[in-house]
Amino acid sequence: METTEAIYSRRAVKHYDPDHRFTEDEIRKLFEAAIQSPTSFNIQHWRFVLVRDPELRARIRAVGNDQAQMTDASILVVMTADINAWSEDPARYWRNAPAEVGKAVSGLIGPFYSGREQLQRDEAMRSIGIAMQTIMLTARDMGYDSCPMIGFDLEAVSELINLPEGHCIGPMIAIGKKTQDAWPKPGQLPLEEVLVENTFPSRS
Ligand SMILES: Cc1cc2nc3c(=O)[nH]c(=O)nc-3n(C[C@H](O)[C@H](O)[C@H](O)COP(=O)(O)O)c2cc1C
Repeated sequence: METTEAIYSRRAVKHYDPDHRFTEDEIRKLFEAAIQSPTSFNIQHWRFVLVRDPELRARIRAVGNDQAQMTDASILVVMTADINAWSEDPARYWRNAPAEVGKAVSGLIGPFYSGREQLQRDEAMRSIGIAMQTIMLTARDMGYDSCPMIGFDLEAVSELINLPEGHCIGPMIAIGKKTQDAWPKPGQLPLEEVLVENTFPSRS
């Protein structure tokens, strides 16, 4: 599928065939694509929690506004990230780069993030967001649909998945074979409202 077609045909789909199963190869393809997503300094903060256990998915749905996608879609991924990934042996993020480049770049990571807690968390969330879009577009390319979801009790789900210390939780994504189309696009803002040329207007 063309990238543009994947972008325009991706919709937040709510209804899935609960009997459809992904093959292990399909699951692998989805996550191999996800890890191609860019991250600052190639830190790769993401930790994708693939929830396979139907009982656990039911418990997530119970704290997730009873959203049917959470149990019915073939795949449920909770997007989490390791906030401290910047400090965890960063040389490994550059191990295939020319030695002098790897040493120089990985040496910049510590000084850049050290003591900047808001930035550390922002970066982890940025990495989650970009990987989410990769996953959703890859799903389209594979003929599937998806639904990003933040409508759940973040603390309860963190507990259910045993989220480690120093990690943050982002949205989940349901992925599967749709049984019903999404409603029409809810209403994109005019491009003129969201596209700023050069600077915002001066405040008077
Ligand atoms: C971070 C995020 C969280 C969302 N949470 C939910 C959710 O909990 N439940 C839901 O049905 N849709 C959820 N959505 C889907 C949005 O409502 C949907 O993307 C938006 O209305 C635009 O529609 P479209 O994705 O079909 O173009 C979420 C989307 C994003 C990006």
